[in-house]
Amino acid sequence: MNKPITIALSKGRIFKDTLPLLKAAGIEPLDDPEKSRKLILDTSIDTVKLVIIRATDVPTYVQHGAADVGVAGKDVLMEHGGQGLYEMLDLKIANCKLMVAGFADRPLPKEKLRVATKFVNCARKYFAQQGRQVDIIKLYGSMELAPIVDLSDCIVDVVDTGNTLRANGLEPLEHMADISSRLIVNKASMKLKHDEIQTLLSQMKAAVDQGNG
Ligand code: ATP
Ligand code: PRP
Repeated sequence: MNKPITIALSKGRIFKDTLPLLKAAGIEPLDDPEKSRKLILDTSIDTVKLVIIRATDVPTYVQHGAADVGVAGKDVLMEHGGQGLYEMLDLKIANCKLMVAGFADRPLPKEKLRVATKFVNCARKYFAQQGRQVDIIKLYGSMELAPIVDLSDCIVDVVDTGNTLRANGLEPLEHMADISSRLIVNKASMKLKHDEIQTLLSQMKAAVDQGNG
């Protein structure tokens, strides 16, 4: 009898892009999280459940063992810090870049740069490494608005096509990190459910290597 495994996922792009990888491991959800209000989904494998949570909460669930495994963006992992979990596999999905963005025609102030972001730890670390003094303004979304209304001089956010920046008159200014989503595993689960998790990992890795990500 296989030990039970709980996998934490967020709705939207991560769920959509993880589905084919889970399918390669024989795991298919019995409900669609976009349609159902259920937070715990059964799957085609009796012992495997999916918990559907906010993207930023995934590392917290895995850290505390509320989920054995999770899928989280590298941006979210860097912001969380990674304690209590192993980052086991780059799933090569939800690819984007963490960037500083602002107005192309307004040079960033050398002192007391005002940075609006939900990635406060990443931003603080990035600017500190460069010896730049910053005021971090914590936001929970729509960061692009902040420079327009003079709440900040720039933002730190993920950028993919650049469409959101362009639509708001902003441009990418500095590249901070390349981002993709990672399979993360609770440290205790990795020992206690070693066989089940290794099987899941190797099946998902094979799917990633075949370009199913
Ligand atoms: P939360 O709901 O917790 O605030 P979120 O709204 O950022 O999180 P998603 O938009 O689903 O959640 O993003 C999940 C992950 O996908 C991010 O952590 C990032 O790694 C990646 N991502 C975010 N935006 C894009 C994008 N436009 N293109 C590609 N990948 C992206
Ligand atoms: C993300 C991010 C940017 C946008 C960048 O938002 O916060 O606003 O994507 O993508 P682009 O460069 O292709 O325009 P998302 O679409 O996830 O909306 P949300 O943050 O409100 O979830």
